[in-house]
Amino acid sequence: MSAGEPVVFPPGFLWGAATAAHQIEGAAAERLPSVWDTFAAVPGKVLGGDTGEVAADHFHRWREDVRLMAELGLGSYRFSVSWPRVLAVGTGFYERLVDALLEAGIVPCLTLYHWDLPQHLEDRGGWPERETAYAFAEYAATVAGALGDRVRLWTTLNEPWCSAFLGYASGVHAPGRTSPADSLRAAHHLNLAHGLAAAELPAGARVGIALNPSAVRPLTESAADLDAARRIDALANRVFTGPLLHGGYPADLLADTAALTDWSFVRPGDEGLIAGRPLDFLGVNYYTPAVVSALPEGAEGPRADGHGASAHSPWPAADGVAFHQPPGERTAMGWSIDPTGLYDLLERFAAEAPGLPLMVTENGAAFGPELEDPERIAYLRSHLAAVHRAIAAGVPVEGYYLWSLMDNYEWSYGYSKRFGIVHVDYGTQVRTPRASAHWYARVARGGVLPPV
Ligand code: FCB
Repeated sequence: MSAGEPVVFPPGFLWGAATAAHQIEGAAAERLPSVWDTFAAVPGKVLGGDTGEVAADHFHRWREDVRLMAELGLGSYRFSVSWPRVLAVGTGFYERLVDALLEAGIVPCLTLYHWDLPQHLEDRGGWPERETAYAFAEYAATVAGALGDRVRLWTTLNEPWCSAFLGYASGVHAPGRTSPADSLRAAHHLNLAHGLAAAELPAGARVGIALNPSAVRPLTESAADLDAARRIDALANRVFTGPLLHGGYPADLLADTAALTDWSFVRPGDEGLIAGRPLDFLGVNYYTPAVVSALPEGAEGPRADGHGASAHSPWPAADGVAFHQPPGERTAMGWSIDPTGLYDLLERFAAEAPGLPLMVTENGAAFGPELEDPERIAYLRSHLAAVHRAIAAGVPVEGYYLWSLMDNYEWSYGYSKRFGIVHVDYGTQVRTPRASAHWYARVARGGVLPPV
């Protein structure tokens, strides 16, 4: 294909946009408290002290939001269900939402967990405790009972890496704990939660998980830098893909972390519980690559790994690893823009799990508040071109969910970062599509990337 030619996607490719409950719904009084409510109430944890109490008020404005999606010609919508809301008021809100989506011809893609652990479960120990995985399976069964007849696409967990390592090691995410050993326990119990929940979902459903695999690259080809990349690959990627796809935790991960834990929290039979229901698709969330090197003995490592400032590393037992910011353009998050990272991940999973369908479950960029957002269009275009290249190389990518449908609560950055193709005025809650929304609507309708 030569430059300037339109890039045509296969028929049936799913064009979607994604959001998450805590980031858009608001209506905090109509759910139990979650760890993010508690965390945001601690001064200094979230920029500006912002909370998810109101957010984009989607809980009250969902009809308007579904209309907007229909106007944009979206083929699918990936949203998450709030566990603390289901416990408080049941599944009615999500039933109405799903019915409206189906009526508008939009395929619902339901995520069971996007980080909003009910606070009372954290009070009992949270993800480092095995019981949390069983509580999650019970909740999954409730949602499956209510929506299993209407929702075909499910993802269990969103980015369990963030839940485990930002939540329990670096502490930049809720619940803000800083124990490397607990973060590894959390990772295992999240894997277990995935498996136990998957077993509760309807037989005909397609079940996936949305990981945020790291496109990790060594700074140089030196043996020490290659080893740094291997360590981070184990902690970012293989801690999940090991048990999900290959029957267990990789030996090098167990060896690297041996000073922190003997992994005895992995009980006999857990591998079978985690992978008992094989994935129907793997969700890949991608924003930016990671460039790593070995640190000279005793040196302090740069912590520019893009996951927020903390005195504690999110990488247990990887003190000898430094993170580097590649040169070139960045988004408002400071994340470098590099679509080859997405291509590399898609190609990797196609090789690692032949025949397993892939979905890009998140990809997008934060820029300024303006309605004219040519940088975002350029970001989306270059990443969609990478997806197309992967498909042309034989990688079975079935869909793409842009992050995000609308501006929302960006976790510890509060409302300061805007990822939406739709602008939200938080004073009036007025939604206004940006130029990127109009651009994406054209792409989604035609299945074609227009020439630059
Ligand atoms: C991902 C999260 C999503 C959003 C984007 C920017 O890690 O899944 O909720 O915060 O990053």
